[in-house]
Amino acid sequence: MRKLAAGNWKMNGTNASLSEVAALLKAHPAPACEMLLCPPAPLLSRMADVASGTQLRLGGQDCHAEVSGAFTGDISAAMLADAGATHVILGHSERRAVHAESDDMVQGKAKAAIATGLIAIICVGETERQRDAGATLDVIGAQLLGSLPDGASSATVVIAYEPVWAIGTGRTPTLPEIADVHLFLRSRLTSRMGADALEVRLLYGGSVKPSNAAEIFALPNVDGALVGGASLKAADFGAIVAALSDAG
Ligand code: PGA
Repeated sequence: MRKLAAGNWKMNGTNASLSEVAALLKAHPAPACEMLLCPPAPLLSRMADVASGTQLRLGGQDCHAEVSGAFTGDISAAMLADAGATHVILGHSERRAVHAESDDMVQGKAKAAIATGLIAIICVGETERQRDAGATLDVIGAQLLGSLPDGASSATVVIAYEPVWAIGTGRTPTLPEIADVHLFLRSRLTSRMGADALEVRLLYGGSVKPSNAAEIFALPNVDGALVGGASLKAADFGAIVAALSDAG
């Protein structure tokens, strides 16, 4: 399978930031891995202009479960697709924590995204307290099964493992800890989906940076990364794209 380097800009970036995208594309016009950036929604269509004719794919950071309606401030999957998105991040821990998104809600959003033709990047991850209590796999297993819609396939979903305590902190789990969770995700997906689970991309996210990318990408069942802070700068994200391309 082709690996995926996904950047999550979160609530960062304005028109001026598009120069970073141009620089990224200049340095990495044809990477061996897939390259995806998920900017704030107002930047999507302008970033789509910059990405036009290139291999860069774009995604949203959330969508509503309904197609349209009286939902002030929300954005539907169809609107993201219309603005140039092919993917959407769903159930990011910041949305689960700050916007109280449940597994059920994430599943509803994933259904809407897939019905629209978007690839749903479903995020799971434990808090530090849950890890310290030895509950990591229980928490992640429940999030995965609760958030994954029936009928999901390797063509329609990507799973991102993002330990909450590793996001934006500079801390990461040990390499064996990452490998353990990814193996667990693969086996849970296999029980649910059968052989197609081997083709589902499993991303690691949480303080991925140029200096740790290669060792994380060398782990079994790590098929790419979801990158926050380091995706904002072309040089850093480009180095991560290069490491993932080398990992083949
Ligand atoms: P980080 O964020 O790379 O800044 O830790 C990752 C994420 O939240 O997707």
